[in-house]
Amino acid sequence: MTQQLGLFNHFTHKANLKQTRYGWLRLTPAYSVHLVEDILDDALSGDAIVLDPFCGTGTTALVCAERGIPCTTTDINPFLLWLTATKTQSYSTKDLTDFMSASEKVIDSVTHNTVNEIWTPPIHQLEKWWDHETLHTLGNIMHVIHDMKDTYSSKTLDILKIAFCRVLIIHSSASFNHQSMSFKKHTNRSIFDKAVDNIKITWEAAVESIYDAAHTEIRTQPGVHLCDAKQLSALLPHNHYTHVITSPPYPNRMSYIRELRPYMYWLGYLKDGREAGELDWQAIGGTWGIATSNTGKWSPPTTRPIPYAQFPEILGGIATKSDILSRYVHKYFYDMVDHISELLVVTKSGGSINYIVGNSKFYDIIIPTEEVFAALFKASGFVDINIKPIRKRTSKKELYEYIVSARKV
Ligand SMILES: C[S@@+](CC[C@H](N)C(=O)[O-])C[C@H]1O[C@@H](n2cnc3c(N)ncnc32)[C@H](O)[C@@H]1O
Repeated sequence: MTQQLGLFNHFTHKANLKQTRYGWLRLTPAYSVHLVEDILDDALSGDAIVLDPFCGTGTTALVCAERGIPCTTTDINPFLLWLTATKTQSYSTKDLTDFMSASEKVIDSVTHNTVNEIWTPPIHQLEKWWDHETLHTLGNIMHVIHDMKDTYSSKTLDILKIAFCRVLIIHSSASFNHQSMSFKKHTNRSIFDKAVDNIKITWEAAVESIYDAAHTEIRTQPGVHLCDAKQLSALLPHNHYTHVITSPPYPNRMSYIRELRPYMYWLGYLKDGREAGELDWQAIGGTWGIATSNTGKWSPPTTRPIPYAQFPEILGGIATKSDILSRYVHKYFYDMVDHISELLVVTKSGGSINYIVGNSKFYDIIIPTEEVFAALFKASGFVDINIKPIRKRTSKKELYEYIVSARKV
């Protein structure tokens, strides 16, 4: 089975990188455009209305937008919603000509170092992310972008900010070789190797590829909304969506806020660590800053057990090693129960749901996420439940990704 699954390694975010708009900005757990396309190919009829309640970088929304399929996507992270709205926007010739001339102004300002007062983001331990000269140049670019707000349309400024995001991450010390982000040491540049020159090269490359990709046709713009997946029915129409295609957070302690912090601080979506922790506490499986201490204090109401027979045994096993991790796993599935009952309300009768999930391992205890999801779908009334493995994840042995699908009667 392992070998067979290996064939499906193109079902990862890496497969998105060379693709047009899909590669505008990376997020480690983004899933592949091919995966969404395959599900849509298998399942689609003319009257499809798609929902992705865990938007992330907007993969589902973009596939639907390019194919002309009506789609709504929601998330609790405002930065990711901005990214998705920008990726799925139609750009006119004027927007793109303006984008190129605005980019020239950025290059000009950076070359002549025209900005005296540089704003830098209030991110903790800023110096770990960028060296002084890099920070100065990034601050200069951001200043110019802000200064152009009365000259260019918000669409033009948005794609300029995408170029900025690409540059800021390439020139940071963040390393994405692991499951989530870590820091590498600043490299010592020679005196001939100036940060500003390197940044200009990266900027021009980013602008060129965004310019090319932004020409691709968008046939239907998706609805992109801020909404907690545990409260879908308050915002979305009931009994409406024929296909749900999504990838929820996995119960693996990966924090989206942690990974997205640099973009979010630079673009003004975060002001301080407290705000970051509070946003992560709203996230299912969030575990950054205050979200961690809140998890440690969280106790589930005894009246609502998780409907998976082995769940108490799994939690008990983890609790012998770490009380907080056991609470973390419990809270993750507790929140998912809320989400799934809301999902049932907004999915159309006869509609299908497709959840791409990954199992996890804490100490020597496997959490069979796919089986728990299948049990939760069943308990809330979905039928025809099916679990299909898609690929082996490389980070640890025994870790796989699956599609768990089901139908609403
Ligand atoms: C695995 S990512 C989705 C990746 C996406 N499929 C892609 O291709 O980029 C999970 C997403 O769920 C979002 N999320 C976490 N908790 C949420 C909640 N309570 N309500 C809505 N979205 C939430 C996170 O912000 C994150 O963007």
